[in-house]
Amino acid sequence: MRLTAKLSDDFDPDAVVDPAHRGEVAWGQFNQSFERLQAQPWWRINQGRRHPLWLRLLRLGAAFVTQKRDAILDLRRKAAAFARLPIPRDPDVVYFGAEAGWEALLVQSLFGAGGRVLLIDSDPVAFARFDAAPEEVRVRAPRGWPTRELVVRRDRARIEYVQADLFTVAETARFDVGIDWGLIEHYPDAGKARLLAALGRFLRPGALEISSCPRDTVFVRLFYRAFRDEVNFGYRELMSLAEHRVHLERAGFSIVHACTLPAHNVLAARAPARSG
Ligand SMILES: C[S@@+](CC[C@H](N)C(=O)[O-])C[C@H]1O[C@@H](n2cnc3c(N)ncnc32)[C@H](O)[C@@H]1O
Repeated sequence: MRLTAKLSDDFDPDAVVDPAHRGEVAWGQFNQSFERLQAQPWWRINQGRRHPLWLRLLRLGAAFVTQKRDAILDLRRKAAAFARLPIPRDPDVVYFGAEAGWEALLVQSLFGAGGRVLLIDSDPVAFARFDAAPEEVRVRAPRGWPTRELVVRRDRARIEYVQADLFTVAETARFDVGIDWGLIEHYPDAGKARLLAALGRFLRPGALEISSCPRDTVFVRLFYRAFRDEVNFGYRELMSLAEHRVHLERAGFSIVHACTLPAHNVLAARAPARSG
């Protein structure tokens, strides 16, 4: 495990809300700044910034590779990973720390949109990003899929968005699929255990949790170094797939699928029997 320790010069410790439950991160600052970073074309990444030449070059290179490989949102590779998972038709899906919620809608585009979709995020900026996101995006379908394209639709009338701390949301074990994408790495180990127990509470026995966090690779380390001012607003770990796996297994989840994307680990795990 490696911490992306060097914090943004813009980080404001007073903007961290309830670190025991939400991780030691200034989420409002992060979500706003990350959106700006993603919207900036790679060749303008240094505009308005004073950095030494080596850092300007590193930032240009990292922005170029990230944007050319679509390594942040990356719905095409996520679709290929999700398509292999044992998910029932029209699943009920809950997404913890959902922000815009794309991964839940991707699951629906693959397995049917007849179930519930509950997106949970406590940060108002995250909801604003959900609110402003396009109504649909088209993604190349995984190899062997019956259609060439997936239409990832955001039917606002059918999406429940709860702006609250997931630890306080009153739901029982009703969901077939849970998603935590970019969440677990923001909690030290004791917090991870509490988080995973809280997620298990939402899942039907045998339901599948899809868990993802940033990979500990040279490129990902360089990314968080190059863009520390834009993205380092608190506690974040980079993990190997094996390290990530240990946290889920300790919490009683059974891994059924593991893979990596360029920037992420992806695990799918059966919820512990005690859920529900
Ligand atoms: C790194 S962002 C990831 C967003 C999204 N899943 C993605 O991958 O693009 C983590 C999100 O989790 C939310 N979050 C953190 N702790 C939470 C909690 N206890 N309850 C609800 N949302 C939480 C934050 O507000 C933030 O928007």
